[in-house]
Amino acid sequence: MPAKNSVFEKIGKTFTSEKISQRVRGMAVSAIKEMSLLAMEIPDSVNLAWGLPSFETPLPIRKRIADELLTNPTIGKYAPPPGLPELKSKIAARLKEQKGIVVDPQKQIIITAGGMQALMMAWMTVLEPGDEVLIASPGFSSHYEQVYLAGGVPVAVPLLEEQDWRVDITAYRRAVTKKTKALVLVNPANPTGSVISEADLRAIGKLALEHGLFVITDDPYEVYVYDDLELFHMLRLPELSRQVIACASFSKEFAMTGWRVGWILAEEGITNQMLKVQDSFVICAPTISQVASLIALEESYEPTLQMVEEMKQRREIICSRLDNLSDLFSYQKPQGAYYIFPKILPEDLRNSVDFCVRLLKESGVVTVPGSAFGPTGEGHVRMSYCFTRQEIHEAFDRIEKWWARVRG
Ligand SMILES: Cc1ncc(COP(=O)(O)O)c(C=O)c1O
Repeated sequence: MPAKNSVFEKIGKTFTSEKISQRVRGMAVSAIKEMSLLAMEIPDSVNLAWGLPSFETPLPIRKRIADELLTNPTIGKYAPPPGLPELKSKIAARLKEQKGIVVDPQKQIIITAGGMQALMMAWMTVLEPGDEVLIASPGFSSHYEQVYLAGGVPVAVPLLEEQDWRVDITAYRRAVTKKTKALVLVNPANPTGSVISEADLRAIGKLALEHGLFVITDDPYEVYVYDDLELFHMLRLPELSRQVIACASFSKEFAMTGWRVGWILAEEGITNQMLKVQDSFVICAPTISQVASLIALEESYEPTLQMVEEMKQRREIICSRLDNLSDLFSYQKPQGAYYIFPKILPEDLRNSVDFCVRLLKESGVVTVPGSAFGPTGEGHVRMSYCFTRQEIHEAFDRIEKWWARVRG
């Protein structure tokens, strides 16, 4: 039996139950990937589903890695399991320069195969069966699945939609039980694009301190922040240094989603435990991709700044196109990342899986059902504006035509 809310289940894909573990039967492929895979079966579809930016990995990185492939005798070999020491040193130097945070790179950082593996390492290392993890609702769908896979229990904590999807400290306080082990924060957030203020982060930090909770930070979109907002990071709270486990990624900052490199940072006693998980999962992150990441940190930052600038423009485009559909959607303007999470206004269309499957079949536009992001996500859709301006316009031309037909 596949999981509830599965798009694949809805469209009738087959699932073998016999001899398949309960653990896996209870999961779903994230609806983000389900919708994108489904779209591959529909010719000429336009994708607003996956957070897969249109940008290529910057040319200087690709050129230098091509050279490394031919000349570096260790490029095809395992790297040390915790990661290339030079890469870890560079990451620590950046942390000091950008955030004023001092860490010991060789003891506290492990390089992973993407932020996703970093997160999975965190869950596997800290969760006992039945431990609860507080996840924003709406929040990143894979956190829900990963916590479940690691034997934990995801607990949805509703955000305040009318206040730009702000975190609700009272709701966090109310959600803590004896079984709560950790909470996870994404800033700026996926799927809402909201930014958590320093004051709210400090309030959450206080709660974590009071109850001895791990604070897992997952920040692949840190660089995508608009409107001159400043990001605060939990690593800047010294009183939490034994409780914060920070997960980060090269995927979005350097247009390197396919290279699969991220990193995890925690106190030394925790990273030593995590190395056991690293060894079982991957041994080490791909060496070639680690070298590419080191090159990314050495090369000019200009391509990233250009990507952020372009994303700002795309945010304006998607907002203005949504404004033209004000009888179908309402929305909160995102402050960061590259997602928007509009509410579906007509009552009869508010089942988000039905809505997204219908929109795909009838207009060829791929979006993600809001229910994938926790209970508060129902009645919404996630749209990503990391695609080209032309693709965003094409998607909205189609949605407008579709809506004119449906509305009659
Ligand atoms: C909030 C969040 N965390 C983690 C990831 C995974 O990123 P990576 O490519 O580093 O595995 C994503 C990807 O979309 C994400 O949105």
